[in-house]
Amino acid sequence: MVPVQAQVLPISQESGIVAEKVRDGIDLEVNGEHFRHTGDAQMPLLWYLRDVLRLTGTKYGGEHGENGADLVLLDGKAVSAITVPLAGLAGKAVTTVEGLAANDGSLHPLQQAFIDEDAIGCGYCTPGWLIAGVDLLRRKPHPNDGDIDQLPNLCRCGCQTRVRRAIKRAAGKAGRP
Ligand code: FES
Repeated sequence: MVPVQAQVLPISQESGIVAEKVRDGIDLEVNGEHFRHTGDAQMPLLWYLRDVLRLTGTKYGGEHGENGADLVLLDGKAVSAITVPLAGLAGKAVTTVEGLAANDGSLHPLQQAFIDEDAIGCGYCTPGWLIAGVDLLRRKPHPNDGDIDQLPNLCRCGCQTRVRRAIKRAAGKAGRP
């Protein structure tokens, strides 16, 4: 029997196929999608998310991320997105607040708990609280008020009491991401 060989098609001008070299860059995953950053490697993750990917849920939380509004999950752990340059993110997985809901659109249990407890005022701090809360519930499925109060997040609308209730309401249900 004559072996079947793979046919290699020549790339020709007639075919319209143009060979494109892969540019060097930083490969990372954001909310389950693959991206390659070919720009400034020192760009903070926060500005990449907001200005390049247009994922504007993550907010500016001070130049050192001191109020927690810029938290994202990096390989499942909460980090301040302004303090992380893209240079250190090759092969890492980032989850922003936009990535918390399931693919079918159903909310993360903590998002639902924030709605149920009316824990949202102007909403500026809410993405950061959600990320911090998901991280806390992963580390400690049944946190107490003291655990929640140790989170770096601040709410200038005075929602802390309702945020505490929301995080405790989601306790034991917030297993993802
Ligand atoms: S809801 Fe307005 S700052 Fe928290």
